[in-house]
Amino acid sequence: MSSEALVGEYFSKGTLSALPSGHFIDGVFVDATGGRGMETFDPGSARAFHTFAAGDGNDVDRAVAAARKAQRDWGRTKAGVRGAILFRAAQIIRAEAARLAVVESLDSGKALQEAEGDVAGAARCFEYYAGAADKIQGDTFPLGTDYIGYSIEEPVGVTAHIIPWNYPLSTAARSIAPALAAGCTVVAKPAEQTPLTALMLADILFRAGLPAGVCNVVTGTGAEAGGPLVSHPDVRHVTFTGSVPTGIRVMQSAAANVTSVVLELGGKSPVIVMADADLDAAIEGVLGAIYENAGQICSAGSRLVVERKVHAELVERIAARANGLKLGHGLRRPQVGALNSAAHLNKVAGYVEGARERGVAIAAGGQRAVDPESGTGWFFQPTILDAVQADDPVIQEEIFGPVLSVQVVEGEEEAVAIANGTDFGLVAGIYTRDFGRAHRMARDIEAGQIYINEYFAGGIEVPFGGSKLSGFGREKGLEALRSYTRTKSLAAKIS
Ligand code: NAI
Ligand code: MG
Repeated sequence: MSSEALVGEYFSKGTLSALPSGHFIDGVFVDATGGRGMETFDPGSARAFHTFAAGDGNDVDRAVAAARKAQRDWGRTKAGVRGAILFRAAQIIRAEAARLAVVESLDSGKALQEAEGDVAGAARCFEYYAGAADKIQGDTFPLGTDYIGYSIEEPVGVTAHIIPWNYPLSTAARSIAPALAAGCTVVAKPAEQTPLTALMLADILFRAGLPAGVCNVVTGTGAEAGGPLVSHPDVRHVTFTGSVPTGIRVMQSAAANVTSVVLELGGKSPVIVMADADLDAAIEGVLGAIYENAGQICSAGSRLVVERKVHAELVERIAARANGLKLGHGLRRPQVGALNSAAHLNKVAGYVEGARERGVAIAAGGQRAVDPESGTGWFFQPTILDAVQADDPVIQEEIFGPVLSVQVVEGEEEAVAIANGTDFGLVAGIYTRDFGRAHRMARDIEAGQIYINEYFAGGIEVPFGGSKLSGFGREKGLEALRSYTRTKSLAAKIS
C-alpha cells in the first residue's frame, strides 16, 4: 500500500489494520504472560490508536531464555551467512518502507518525511553491518618462532537494547544490526510510547531468515519490562539510549552482574557561529539542528553560541524562519511535528515558562500549539530564547524540544569555554570559514563528535557517542561492533 493510502486509512478509521500487538519472542508474536495491555498514542491528535502487550519480568525471562537457546548456533553461523540475512532484512525494510514510515510517524508524532528518512537510514544501517559481518577478525601476536599467538573476536552472547521514543526504528536498527552481525542474540525493549516499529523490525528480520529466538522484542514500561531486562543475569551487554537518571540506574543494575553497558544519554550541544561564517549555511544548520523532530534529538543543537558581531542579524533571520515553520499532524507532512507525549509537552512548556519568569527575552514562539486542522495534539511553537546567561537552566539542562537558547560570545576563546560549559559532551557544531580555527576549536571542545559547516553531517559510517554526562561507548561505524565482541587470545608453544 502507498503511504497516501495508509494515511487515508488512518484518518478514516482512527487506526491502521494489522499493527503488531504482542511481544515478538522466539519467532512468533505472543501475548503478555500477565495478559495485560497498554495503549499507544498518536501525539498529533492526543488519541490512543492501538493496544500492545504490557510485559513484565516473566516475559523478559521468556525472551532471554529464547535468546540464550539461539545463541550457540547463531554465534557459530558463518559470518557471511549472517551478513546475507542482514542484507535481506535491509531489502525488506526498503520494500515495506511506506508502512514502516507511516507507523513510525503516527506512533511518535514526527513528520512523515522525517520518518521516511529514518526508515531509509535503518535500511542503510543493516546494509552497512551486513557488509561488516565477515570483516570482524582477530590479530596475531609476535611471540617468536617457537610460539603461535592469535586472537578471535567472539560474540558476547545475549544483548539487551533499551530504545527511546524519539527515534524508535533508527535507534533499534543502529544497535540491533551490529549485535547480529557480531553473532550476538538480542532482546530489545522499545519505549512504551513507541513500541510498534521495533516489533515490525523483529518480524522483518525473521522473514529475512534470522532463526527464531535470535532477535526478540518485549514491550512494556521501563520499570516493569526494562528493569528486569537490564538486571537479567543471562544478559551480557546492555545498550541504552535515554535520559541521564535512567542511564545511571541501568548502569547500576548491570553492575550487579558485571554486565558491560553503552550509554547514549542526553546532550546540550552548541552550534557555534563565528562572524566569518557563511551565514546562509549557518542559518539552515541551526534551524535543522533544533527543529528537526521538534528538537527531540539527543544530539540536537539546542544552544546557539554566536559571536556578538553577527548576533542581532542571525537571531532576527532565524526567528523569522522559525515563526514561519508550519506545525501539524505528522502524517500531513508538516515542517514541525508533535511532541511525543502530554507529559513531555508539559516539561518543555515548563522550561520556557521558567525562562519567561526569569526575564529571558523570547525572540520567537514560546507557546503551546495544536494541529491546525483538528485543533488537538501535543505541539509547542518553535522557540528562541535570546542572550541567555550561562548558568540559566535552559542553558544547563536538556529540554528535548523545539527550544533554541542563544549565548553571545566575544570571540573564539570564549566560544570554546561556553561550548564546554555544561555537564554534557555529545556534539558540537562549528560554523566558520577559517580552516585552522575550525580545527583548533574542534581540538579544544569536549564532545563525542564535531560537525564543521554542516550540522548532522555524516551517517552510519561515523562513530557516535558522548563524553561527560552524555555517556560513553560508541554506536555506529565499525567501532560499534566492539560492544558486541570480546577478544579471546591464544598463545601456543609449538616447539
Ligand atoms: P527514559 O530514559 O526513562 O526512557 C528511555 C527508555 O528507557 C525507554 O524505553 C524506557 O522504557 C526505558 N526505561 C525507563 N526506566 C528504565 C529502567 N529502570 N530500566 C530499564 N529501562 C528503563 O526517558 P523518558 O522518561 O522517556 O524521557 C525523559 C527525558 O529523557 C526526555 O525529556 C529527554 O530529555 C531524555 N531522553 C533522551 C533521549 C536520547 O536520545 N538521549 C531519548 C529519550 C529521552
Ligand atoms: Mg505512540
